[in-house]
Amino acid sequence: MLKVESVFVIYGRSSAVREASLVVNEGEIVTLIGANGAGKTSLMNAITGVVPLHSGNIWLGSSRLTGLPSYETVRLGLGYVPEGRQIFGSMSVKDNLTLGAYTECAKTRLGAVGPVGWFLRSSVFQSRLKNVYQLFPILEERSRQKAGSLSGGEQQMLAIGRALMSSPKMLLLDEPSLGLAPNLVRDILRLLRRLRDEGLTILLVEQDANAALKIADRGYVMERGRITIEGTAKELMGNDQVRQAYLGKSVA
Ligand SMILES: Nc1ncnc2c1ncn2[C@@H]1O[C@H](COP(=O)(O)OP(=O)(O)OP(=O)(O)O)[C@@H](O)[C@H]1O
Ligand SMILES: [Mg+2]
Repeated sequence: MLKVESVFVIYGRSSAVREASLVVNEGEIVTLIGANGAGKTSLMNAITGVVPLHSGNIWLGSSRLTGLPSYETVRLGLGYVPEGRQIFGSMSVKDNLTLGAYTECAKTRLGAVGPVGWFLRSSVFQSRLKNVYQLFPILEERSRQKAGSLSGGEQQMLAIGRALMSSPKMLLLDEPSLGLAPNLVRDILRLLRRLRDEGLTILLVEQDANAALKIADRGYVMERGRITIEGTAKELMGNDQVRQAYLGKSVA
């Protein structure tokens, strides 16, 4: 489903991603493991169009994502939960979720006020919102509250919910468990497995490699901008190099 071919990301003179290639097949959870500064976020940002590629190609099915701005990658089916959540703290929980569906309402291209109002009343929007509230009942309880006043775990749920509002074919998550208590990490990973079982394809960057490999089908290891090891989750868990470098303590 997602094919990343020889991607380079260069900031000024330093290359953060060097000739990275990876594949995520439909219905898989694939995890990307690597130390701080390895280039994981840069690669995720390049796939989703947040930062430009220097070279290489990215495909989502038969759609070429290379060089597309992020709103186009959302329209073509990518949902992104970025590092650090990036929710809009001064807006309400519901407005954050609504923004997640914005590309859908922009699809109508009918001008500003009319189609937005129309879309918000549509059954498509309402059923997506209901779906997110079913996954995360706390977000419905807090729907009018400012997003910035949510707890860290609730903000992470909101970031995932917002990404799901565009009804993506594929979800990319960058360290969703960062700063969360162990039981919440487990909840989030369990949720990802459930979403995968319901048909979503997932690319997950996760600091807790042990926990990520437990739910993943396959994984890639990134070191200094390059993909250096790849394999099934089982192979990676049994790989001495991976065990030594990444499989220390796990909370989940
Ligand atoms: N906008 C930027 N401008 C310049 N350099 C950057 C920028 N973003 C990242 N870098 C550099 O690129 C390299 C890769 O960073 P990146 O954030 O992609 O790593 P990461 O694997 O996500 O790390 P972490 O696990 O800490 O999140 C680092 O050396 C970083 O300092
Ligand atoms: Mg990062």
